[in-house]
Amino acid sequence: MQTIALVSQKGGTGKSTLAIGLAIAAMQDGHKVCLLEADPQGTVSNWRRRRAQAEPAVETVADGAEFAHRLPFLARCGVTLAIIDTAAGHSAAAEAAIGAADLCLIPARPSPADIEAAAPTLAAVRAGDKPFAFVLNQTPVRSFRIADAAGALSDTAISLNASGVVALPYIVLRNDQQDALGAGLAVTEYALGGKSAEEIRSLWRWVSSRLAVAAPAEARIDLGAAAANSEADLRAAG
Ligand SMILES: Nc1ncnc2c1ncn2[C@@H]1O[C@H](COP(=O)(O)OP(=O)(O)OP(=O)(O)O)[C@@H](O)[C@H]1O
Ligand SMILES: [Mg+2]
Repeated sequence: MQTIALVSQKGGTGKSTLAIGLAIAAMQDGHKVCLLEADPQGTVSNWRRRRAQAEPAVETVADGAEFAHRLPFLARCGVTLAIIDTAAGHSAAAEAAIGAADLCLIPARPSPADIEAAAPTLAAVRAGDKPFAFVLNQTPVRSFRIADAAGALSDTAISLNASGVVALPYIVLRNDQQDALGAGLAVTEYALGGKSAEEIRSLWRWVSSRLAVAAPAEARIDLGAAAANSEADLRAAG
């Protein structure tokens, strides 16, 4: 099992939206996914309540110390990908999520405030010596701001002695993203032929290839074995 943490101290950057989008794209790619919500705001749990489909499981985590036993338990239940959504601001749970993650994703909008706010988040990720990538989210379709923002985020990384990493593609601000979550779906279910869906699928492919590099060989995912473990197993064991 591998673990992704969505982290940004700035609020509203898209942590929950991208956690959900990537969770469903990964499921559609054959993963057994569990979303872990470490944000008392409850965005992911509220989305789960609106959702008719049985998967993915959503579990709330009240205390970051829980990751140490919850994640190995999920792995034993056949989960192949855990995605942790964290709260904005500085929290012990977000720090623990970073510590538990194989890859940290830091969403940022192409605005000076978000780019400035990315620095302390990245510092926390670097302190944990974790692979990371920025995800430029809520971008306009076309604007000089996008390239400027990507450049500024790369500079932020370089100033912290990390190679500049901005995930591709950038995720455009579109109504689909909001409407999908309102319907308890992800964009790749809500408008699967749409541009937002294609962006999220491509982002998942990018993330998946980063995870393949980040994972120690013995931890690489055996999707065949995972498929044998049913949702019923997970619930029964829980
Ligand atoms: N690509 C996008 N296109 C359109 N709307 C988006 C996109 N990404 C996020 N949003 C919207 O922006 C708002 C903030 O997104 P989201 O809740 O995912 O951010 P967050 O980082 O989880 O926020 P918080 O810090 O409060 O937890 C939501 O209303 C969401 O629907
Ligand atoms: Mg959120």
